[in-house]
Amino acid sequence: MRLVLLGAPGAGKGTQAQTISQKLGVPHIASGDLFREAQQKGTELGRLAKSYMERGALVPDEITVRMILERISAPDCLRGFVLDGFPRTLEQAEALDRALATEGKAIDKAVYIKVSNEELIRRLSGRWICRNCQMPYNIISSPPRVRGRCDACGGELYQRPDDSEETVKRRLDVYFAQTAPLINYYLGAGKLVEVNGEQAIGEVERELLRVIARD
Ligand code: AP5
Ligand code: MG
Ligand code: ZN
Repeated sequence: MRLVLLGAPGAGKGTQAQTISQKLGVPHIASGDLFREAQQKGTELGRLAKSYMERGALVPDEITVRMILERISAPDCLRGFVLDGFPRTLEQAEALDRALATEGKAIDKAVYIKVSNEELIRRLSGRWICRNCQMPYNIISSPPRVRGRCDACGGELYQRPDDSEETVKRRLDVYFAQTAPLINYYLGAGKLVEVNGEQAIGEVERELLRVIARD
């Protein structure tokens, strides 16, 4: 199963991808997580990505596409993957389709997780993330059992610097201008399915599993 998760910042892509990828037995590949990992390691890619991410802007397509195509060519992706945060522009979506097509493969479904703007802002301001496994928590809707610690791995929780009020606004603007058109792209390809992202986390997961199982 080759899945793309579409949705605005805060829609719950990371939250759902963590559990869905485990259930499907395929890796969760998140472009934002890969960029943050590169920053932690202090690589050239990390330094470059940081200069865009801290402003809430997109990292250039060429760099992002190269990073993801390399990642999905690894052996653990032979049976599929769950993409979270990629593609984010039409150019990225086309590059992904072209690369898969050369191997006779294609994206199976693009799941659009739909959430209203007010709710997105509420979610991002209360978000804490595990430094170790990237699991997202929320002080209101899904707090960790032990304060400041990840339920899954015990890792330390932190707040993303780009979750500040100003940068969140910028990320939402960028999303509507550059990423939202992908909804139509996948609709046109007959691959779009939609889930109501404003239900409880477990309900969203159930609906997601239901729509991807449907033909
Ligand atoms: P990225 O890391 O991808 O961030 P994003 O798209 O802005 O999305 P988020 O991670 O903020 O939201 P999410 O949908 O994963 O929500 P989550 O599950 O955490 O990208 C960051 C930056 O990297 C970009 O700005 C860009 O600079 C760069 N970048 C990345 N990919 C790129 C690309 N392809 N091209 C170019 N640049 C790229 O949930 C949010 C909160 O809500 C959490 O607190 C969670 O606990 C809570 N929550 C989740 N579900 C529910 C629910 N059902 N009910 C209540 N609360 C919920
Ligand atoms: Mg995320
Ligand atoms: Zn963790």
